Amino acid sequence: MNVFLVKDSVTVQEMVSQSTLALSAAGIAQPRLDAEILLAEIFGGRREDVYIQSDRVLNAEEVARYAHWIERRLAREPVATILGRREFWSLNFKVNSEVLIPRPETEGVIERLLALRDESRHRPQPNILDLCTGSGILAVVAAREIPASRVFAVDISAPALQVARENAQAHLVADRLVFFEGDLFEGWEAPECRELDFILCNPPYIESRLLPQLQPEIRDHEPALALDGGPDGLEFFKRIIPTAAERLRPGGFIIMEMGPEQAPAVTELMASQPALENIVVTRDYSGRDRVISARRASLG
Ligand SMILES: C[S@@+](CC[C@H](N)C(=O)[O-])C[C@H]1O[C@@H](n2cnc3c(N)ncnc32)[C@H](O)[C@@H]1O
Repeated sequence: MNVFLVKDSVTVQEMVSQSTLALSAAGIAQPRLDAEILLAEIFGGRREDVYIQSDRVLNAEEVARYAHWIERRLAREPVATILGRREFWSLNFKVNSEVLIPRPETEGVIERLLALRDESRHRPQPNILDLCTGSGILAVVAAREIPASRVFAVDISAPALQVARENAQAHLVADRLVFFEGDLFEGWEAPECRELDFILCNPPYIESRLLPQLQPEIRDHEPALALDGGPDGLEFFKRIIPTAAERLRPGGFIIMEMGPEQAPAVTELMASQPALENIVVTRDYSGRDRVISARRASLG
């Protein structure tokens, strides 16, 4: 399908208008924004160039490339996978259809990590585990923000781990990051992971029955493995929290992202572990409960 009525010479401005109309007719939420972001890619990713160069005539190769991206967007593929990247913590991360696209609210996990690191005077060389690493955003940012840390990252998906490895290399922390393919704490072994200072985790937490109702960008283009939290959305919290309580060293912290409405249930799961104390829920930029942390009680 060609979405454009291409004349001999199409300007940037005309191209944005035509594609905005096509995206809008297809029910895409922010048609002009998406049209501009994709067109900016032709200019190397600078959105202001769409305005500065609005009268520029696009050549045939540029039109063909852009039309292909718009067709993918019309099929409800997210802009991030079309571009192959998404920004997180002001860094660009490679993404593809094998990984969850990084969400801004996940930055709350890193904010909590840094706050707890500062408050609790941790070992200068902390051991950090990122469970359910996906594209590796939490592991990579933790390694960059805490330069002496040793970071372990686990995912059950081999293709996701491949993306995470590439992100670790791109951000120059591959030498301090160890990746494992495993089912949460099972199927891999690292002695240091019995003495963890921090466990970070953004698990799948959507109730299975809600998956078919998600917007097509998520339902059809992000891996169900990254979304499906079981019948009540809490399956991963129930599996992770008891083992995490054993694997943390005294004074270590678990920090998890959750759905805002899950805060009472996840708080209860953490409170049911005698080894965990100081349970704190922090909010995301929209003011909704999003990140929960707890400390492994000190011995004696
Ligand atoms: C919500 S995504 C989080 C990805 C990334 N940490 C982020 O915040 O963007 C959850 C990840 O958990 C992984 N996963 C699902 N089941 C798992 C399991 N049993 N063990 C380990 N990882 C699992 C998925 O492959 C997916 O990459």
